[in-house]
Amino acid sequence: MATWNLSETQHHVLICNGGSCMKHQGEEVTLAIRAEIAAQGADRFIHTTRTRCNGRCQDACVVTVYPEGVWYKDMTPESGRAMVREHLLQGNILQEHMVYSFKDRFVPTGLGPEGVQRN
Ligand code: FES
Repeated sequence: MATWNLSETQHHVLICNGGSCMKHQGEEVTLAIRAEIAAQGADRFIHTTRTRCNGRCQDACVVTVYPEGVWYKDMTPESGRAMVREHLLQGNILQEHMVYSFKDRFVPTGLGPEGVQRN
């Protein structure tokens, strides 16, 4: 998967590989998303990155998609593959997994916990 030339990239997918997400299939979700991207021939349109903890461990496994600014929770290999096909390639967000979207700021959908304010 090439990262040298991002000029055709339309989506950047950040897949949490922090400790909590790895206990909730983070590795399997990562491999499933990448396999589906390859199966769809979409490598040059979608770039993926493994991340450390995104600070929303109650939502594990967490996946975020940019430039839309969509935060997904409870992702599984199955929903990861569906996200590639439905969201990234067809523009249909997985509403049942979305906890935040971005419209000038991140807007909660009400599906996730509010989290903890850090000082
Ligand atoms: S380990 Fe994924 S959000 Fe914390």
